[in-house]
Amino acid sequence: MAGGKKGSPSRSGVFNKPVDPLTEAFTQSISFDRVLCKYDIAGSIAHAKMLGKVGLIKRSEEETILRGLAEIQSDYDEGKINFSAEYEDIHMNVEKALEERIGETAGKLHTARSRNDQIALDERLWLRDELDEIARLIGNVQDALLDLATEYANDAMPGYTHLQRAQPVSCGHYLLAYVEMFARDKDRMSDARRRANVLPLGACALAGTSLPIDRQYVAAILGFDGVTRNSMDTTADRDYLLDFAYAMSVCSLHLSRMSEDFILYSTTEFGLLEIDDAFCTGSSIMPQKRNPDILELIRGKTGRSIALLSHYLILVKGLPLTYNRDFQEDKELLFETTLQFKGCLQIIEAVLRNLRFRRDRMADACELGYMDATALAEHLVRRGIPFRQAHHVAGKLVNLAVQKGVKLADLEIEELQSVHALLGEETRNVLGGKGVIGAYASEGSANPKFVLNAIEDWRSRLRGERGEPDPKAKRRPSKN
Ligand code: ARG
Repeated sequence: MAGGKKGSPSRSGVFNKPVDPLTEAFTQSISFDRVLCKYDIAGSIAHAKMLGKVGLIKRSEEETILRGLAEIQSDYDEGKINFSAEYEDIHMNVEKALEERIGETAGKLHTARSRNDQIALDERLWLRDELDEIARLIGNVQDALLDLATEYANDAMPGYTHLQRAQPVSCGHYLLAYVEMFARDKDRMSDARRRANVLPLGACALAGTSLPIDRQYVAAILGFDGVTRNSMDTTADRDYLLDFAYAMSVCSLHLSRMSEDFILYSTTEFGLLEIDDAFCTGSSIMPQKRNPDILELIRGKTGRSIALLSHYLILVKGLPLTYNRDFQEDKELLFETTLQFKGCLQIIEAVLRNLRFRRDRMADACELGYMDATALAEHLVRRGIPFRQAHHVAGKLVNLAVQKGVKLADLEIEELQSVHALLGEETRNVLGGKGVIGAYASEGSANPKFVLNAIEDWRSRLRGERGEPDPKAKRRPSKN
């Protein structure tokens, strides 16, 4: 360090005084951006290789720097590094640690680089890894849902609109609805990854550099799809975090709605499913209680993702181009929220793997509430009756059944025929939970047959995403 002075290497000769301790404490980010250490080092390794390649540093200096950076990484892994607020952030702390190990050569590493492009690089590298892990975790949740859907494909359960019993559906179909939502979430995550996977390094402070750097080379080393095109946009941009926060918020909404469903369905009032004891909590006073706290916490934690999204929208909204220190505020909430979000995905998978639907209660529930009235109307439509008239006839039969206190399927044939002559014995086939779900015929409908096909489809898609072979794929005949 010039003159061996204490303080951040970023404090040049322009200053006549050291920083006030309040300034140091207030501006430091090392207490939270240390999470980026591994990415900061990876970025520096690639940068040093590039500086060596284009001749901005000697090959021997490149080697010295790379050796020093490798040492820092292993010391960090072994918990042997003490980062200090005196050096502000992760970038300056790593540079300082390098200087302690290799001396003055460390000062060459920051050639043609600014913390403004460096932080964008670290964040993009971090995000890429997180997105990969999140996609894997969502895939596991989908897997658990598919197992449940397979188990309960043939069981009818009430489907609700307005939280009133509406029409029976295959329980598997209900579960696959969430598989769809999580697939869109993965799509959004991979979209966010694609946009984040562009190298910002080389934008330097905001304008690029007069030095002959090779950005494509750095991009190739770090596995980026390309380099950003405009240095000002690059240092002013946090869209990649906004994209991620949005994707995480929507996925959190899906987790929250599923939790809400299960909380409701596990009540004595609904009684459609049971959450395993291992995933319920008790009450400190009421001995009989089995509370779905996990699901409530997942629902509650949704606020964090949405808070992160609104935080970013507000953070970026009024910022003049390009970099502003406000950006330092993009990290703490991000790290904490992402950790919590991954925790939700992990535990919901476990909850799902131990969830039991109550076949008896689902079947009973399908017999109450005249949920087969629509199927009855459609049965008449198939016999040539205009839907509006069929709707009216079915309503009359519901009215009759209500008066008698019986199910539609329990009405006498004469009673059916007294309301419409085209009704008869076969009418009963489309009534009751099982009858109704077996009669659904449209693509995407709640018939168990379709559910089983959809499950197969999902399984092969998930295998494809994981790069696993399809067990049913025909092997090529061997040559001998
Ligand atoms: N800690 C800073 C951040 O998080 C790093 C970049 C600082 N750049 C600067 N010119 N002060 O954004």
